[in-house]
Amino acid sequence: MASKLFQSTLRGRTAAITGASGGIGLAIAERFLHEGSSVVLLGRDAQKLKVAASQLPHDDRIREHVLDVRLEQSWADAIPLFPDVDILINCAGISQRSLLVRTSEDEIRDILDTNLVGTILGCRAVARHWLKSKRRREPLPDYCIINLSSLLGVRGCAGTSVYSASKAGIIGLTTSLAAEFRGTRVNAILPGYIDTAMTNDADKPQKMKIPVARFGTPDEVADAAAFLAKNKYANNCILNLDGGLSAT
Ligand SMILES: NC(=O)c1ccc[n+]([C@@H]2O[C@H](COP(=O)([O-])OP(=O)(O)OC[C@H]3O[C@@H](n4cnc5c(N)ncnc54)[C@H](OP(=O)(O)O)[C@@H]3O)[C@@H](O)[C@H]2O)c1
Repeated sequence: MASKLFQSTLRGRTAAITGASGGIGLAIAERFLHEGSSVVLLGRDAQKLKVAASQLPHDDRIREHVLDVRLEQSWADAIPLFPDVDILINCAGISQRSLLVRTSEDEIRDILDTNLVGTILGCRAVARHWLKSKRRREPLPDYCIINLSSLLGVRGCAGTSVYSASKAGIIGLTTSLAAEFRGTRVNAILPGYIDTAMTNDADKPQKMKIPVARFGTPDEVADAAAFLAKNKYANNCILNLDGGLSAT
């Protein structure tokens, strides 16, 4: 008899995904749709969201909403509009390519606000919402949060200090919330170098000595997100996905 685990899919689930207008966020939306989930694409730019949605199949299971992750009010306005959301994927992020001495205060604050504060606000917004709706839902949904951290949150690299600090903060956040929340699983993915707009100007994989000799694809990160969303024992997983770069 097939194990219950093998029958696990994302059918009937609803995932809200920040940073869904491109790159990894859009790949996650595509994978979740493929596995039967509905998706709410969240991003700063309505036009970009529309274009992203048009690239996806199953449009009856796609909704879009403009949200700036840095703004508390933006979260407060968005979450009640989608009461069926039971998975949050915090994927919005911006990068940094500058030595700290050449990084302005505005840039520092924007990186921390987008990557770290945005993720914290998102976790808090859904947790508050789920706490209220839990009292009304039987059986309890498998609430799940997946945060996009980075290999750079645990490994040094010149020119990424503030980004690294923001991604290290996401690991601390994830671990603490996994202990604090009851009935909500909280996990993080630590991608290495993934082939998206964010890594357009990165060095070549050969130069970085990535053991698998290439960058990862957004689909490979989406695969990890699908695993974390489906596996009900996955809580406080801090999942490396870096082609072995963390081992070098
Ligand atoms: N690519 C990599 O190698 C890599 C490695 C490790 C971790 N990550 C992490 O993975 C996540 C996705 O990265 P990616 O490579 O897919 O980058 P990307 O293609 O540049 O996508 C980033 C997304 O974040 C959105 N965003 C930025 N600021 C926002 C804000 N204030 N509010 C809402 N959305 C905002 C962007 O929307 P706009 O289009 O409106 O700007 C875009 O959709 C990020 O958290 C990144 O740090 C990426």
